Amino acid sequence: MHGGQRAVPQLSFLTILTNGAKIHIPMDKLLRIRSRSTSYSETPSLKESLLNLIVCPACHHNLDLTIKKRMDREIEHGFLKCKQCSAAYPIVRGIPRFVTSDHYTRSFSAEWNLFSTTQLDRGTTTGTRETFAEKTGLSPDKVMGKVLEAGCGMGRFLEVLSHSQGVTVVGFDLSLAVEAAYKNVGSRDNVHILQADVMKPPFNEQSFDLVYSLGVIHHTSNPKEAFMKLVSLVRRGGQIAIWVYQKYRRPPLSDFYRIFTSRMPWSTVLALSILLSHLYWLQKHWSYFLVLFPMSTLADPERRVLDTLDWYSPKYQFKFTRGDIVDWFLEAGLQEIEVLSNPISVKGRVT
Ligand SMILES: C[S@@+](CC[C@H](N)C(=O)[O-])C[C@H]1O[C@@H](n2cnc3c(N)ncnc32)[C@H](O)[C@@H]1O
Ligand SMILES: [Zn+2]
Repeated sequence: MHGGQRAVPQLSFLTILTNGAKIHIPMDKLLRIRSRSTSYSETPSLKESLLNLIVCPACHHNLDLTIKKRMDREIEHGFLKCKQCSAAYPIVRGIPRFVTSDHYTRSFSAEWNLFSTTQLDRGTTTGTRETFAEKTGLSPDKVMGKVLEAGCGMGRFLEVLSHSQGVTVVGFDLSLAVEAAYKNVGSRDNVHILQADVMKPPFNEQSFDLVYSLGVIHHTSNPKEAFMKLVSLVRRGGQIAIWVYQKYRRPPLSDFYRIFTSRMPWSTVLALSILLSHLYWLQKHWSYFLVLFPMSTLADPERRVLDTLDWYSPKYQFKFTRGDIVDWFLEAGLQEIEVLSNPISVKGRVT
């Protein structure tokens, strides 16, 4: 079965009370992917200009487009066929699919379709904008040219960058988070979204002015290889910025719990994250609570559940020291290497 067709896991509880606050998880959010697979009417679509940026991930030759259904200048349904090796990649609900499933990222498919707008900046909220600046050392307003986000999740950083003048931003993710990203920002003229694997990126080498990847590489099966793939996509003079989890001298108990939680059904880990978030008030009275039960300490209950779930559910979660990451940057021959204060965020330039 194709990755774009599968629905997120089913849940039985939808409203939770935590620390006096209520979190509503509407059923239609959970069912949205399934219902969309039979209806193309509301979804935004692939923009033809993306064809200038993508190639066959297998042999790096150009792709021919066959349109099955289009809306004005956008393509909702069709396929891309390699001119050289004849590999075909379907366009499903406006998103080109360069993978046959979401593979090991099923937890993220579910997570980002459930919490599809939680971290989006709206109105006067600027948290994601600030996070981008802290983790890349770049001001979103000053980002220019062709930009690639590897592992875009539900598209919160694409949303921030899409407001900048003179930017075309391409986001890809292995998981079905692309469905949520598409809904959030896919219809914007300067945003393109596709489902692909960082290990087999469907782009020519040295094609982007900036490549960034925040909180992604440590969730792949081979983080260093993923990083090197991304470096190869940056043009000469362009920049790369990554943020990865920090390795501590004394690992938290959550690393041990993850042996079990990363193998549990996702809905069970969600239930446990909700339970922990519900018990968060205990840390005020019992100082060992957070040591025994490591969890997000964010004040907003919904974000606390999301963050806790994000720690405990992914299959892979590697951690690194600053030295590890600087070594990668040096090995890749990057210049102007900058280690930012937000651990562990590092930026460099291809020369
Ligand atoms: C913690 S989320 C971060 C999402 C986004 N960068 C953000 O901060 O909102 C990690 C993302 O990496 C994606 N990911 C993991 N392995 C990947 C791979 N091999 N190729 C592309 N994306 C991948 C997951 O599907 C998930 O959406
Ligand atoms: Zn090919």
